[in-house]
Amino acid sequence: MTYKLIDLVRKLKAEKHAIILAHNYQPPVIQEIADLTGDSLELSRQAASTTAEVIVFCGVAFMAETAAVLNPDKTVILPRLEAGCPMADMITPENMLAIKREHPGVPIVTYVNSTAAVKAESTVCCTSANSIRVVESFQDADTIYMTPDQNLAKYTARHTRKKIHYWHGYCPIHHNLSAQQVRRRKEAYPDALFLAHPECRPEVLDLADMVQSTSGMLRYVNESSHRSFIIGTEEGILYPMRRQNPDKSFYPASDDLICPDMKKITLADVVQSLQTLQPRVTVSEEIRHKAIKAVERMLAV
Ligand code: 13P
Ligand code: SF4
Repeated sequence: MTYKLIDLVRKLKAEKHAIILAHNYQPPVIQEIADLTGDSLELSRQAASTTAEVIVFCGVAFMAETAAVLNPDKTVILPRLEAGCPMADMITPENMLAIKREHPGVPIVTYVNSTAAVKAESTVCCTSANSIRVVESFQDADTIYMTPDQNLAKYTARHTRKKIHYWHGYCPIHHNLSAQQVRRRKEAYPDALFLAHPECRPEVLDLADMVQSTSGMLRYVNESSHRSFIIGTEEGILYPMRRQNPDKSFYPASDDLICPDMKKITLADVVQSLQTLQPRVTVSEEIRHKAIKAVERMLAV
């Protein structure tokens, strides 16, 4: 059955001039059928440069929205519209206006894990892979406001001399990982390096040998001569790590690192969305026009 669906995806993809982009957290079969897998930054860059007419985004809503912002003339599909990101929903455009009133003139750096309407009120976007570079790009500003992730903001603040104010959002999956859980895993696997995502709490990052975006972690384990790793991010990344490094061992930092939204899209959903070119993700021209400035400014950094 699975093979039949995979063949169907390949056939439909060619017929519809479609590209399939998948985030590193997607289920294995979705990563296998994707033309490109990556972290948010890599997927944004790919969405900005593709010549395909249809982009099937296997990820969550904010990622597909970013692709729609960058590609107004293309059909952008999110096979399951209800796949969202709880952190993205922790800040609204009204909250952004209030921040601007309280911090006039302060650049607002917004994590891509946000709605297009929130990006539209931002000075620039950032991802987990470039937050320090983006903050440092404001040569004339000594204060920056970061939204919506408090943990990414605290991590970035450790690597810049600028004063960082931040919104209080968080990723429920990464924020839930405790230092105690990590210590227990380290005791169980004393030879393993611990890699953590910047969405984790500061006390968890204190225990990390390396802090990276999802693709940064993947590159690191591929290049490392080390043989075992404890992984402090969503468990989907373990699939490419294990496949690309069959001689190395990978352990999740806890058994709870599962993002339910990232697991919603099935192979059958991808087939159906290629057949119907639905459900589409669109962004109003008014919001798109403002949001694209923040996204393009990030891509230029
Ligand atoms: P990356 O950009 O590091 O892949 O992270 C995206 C994300 O949603 C992390 O929870
Ligand atoms: Fe959002 Fe966290 Fe899921 Fe990433 S892992 S999509 S930040 S809820």
